Amino acid sequence: MEEKKKKIILAADHAGFELKEKLKEVLNESEVPFDDLTPKFDKEDDYTDEAFKAARKVVKDKTQGILVCGTGIGMCIAANKVKGAMAAMAYDEKTARLSRQHNDANILCLGARTTEEGEAVKALKAWLTTRFLEGRHAIRVNKIKEFERG
Ligand code: RB5
Repeated sequence: MEEKKKKIILAADHAGFELKEKLKEVLNESEVPFDDLTPKFDKEDDYTDEAFKAARKVVKDKTQGILVCGTGIGMCIAANKVKGAMAAMAYDEKTARLSRQHNDANILCLGARTTEEGEAVKALKAWLTTRFLEGRHAIRVNKIKEFERG
């Protein structure tokens, strides 16, 4: 039986909304299923609420998430407060790829005001297709997980 692909969780605040819409197009073109938790633009929204909601769903569904705000930084800080979230701030294709290879990040944070659209698209594609390298990187990632467990 064919395994059903898990949906990627998407969320953005007002500053990240437009880039998030572009990333949705890319996911659609690549036939990657997703669940957009911020389907409507709201100029008053706060990145914190979007990040908490999305990170909780990523952890609950054991899937991956893409969060976009102005810099990506606020989303990343907030998402990492959720147990099980391993959110990585990426600025380009290289940092996105490394966040999968070395850190096993389950959430990619991008900044619409800091990364131009073409680079963000490259970062997204690299992130989705790059696997965790395990080995010595797993030892380090497990230390983070142990620390979180307390
Ligand atoms: C919103 O103006 C902006 O502060 C937010 O999108 C983000 O950049 C925070 O880190």
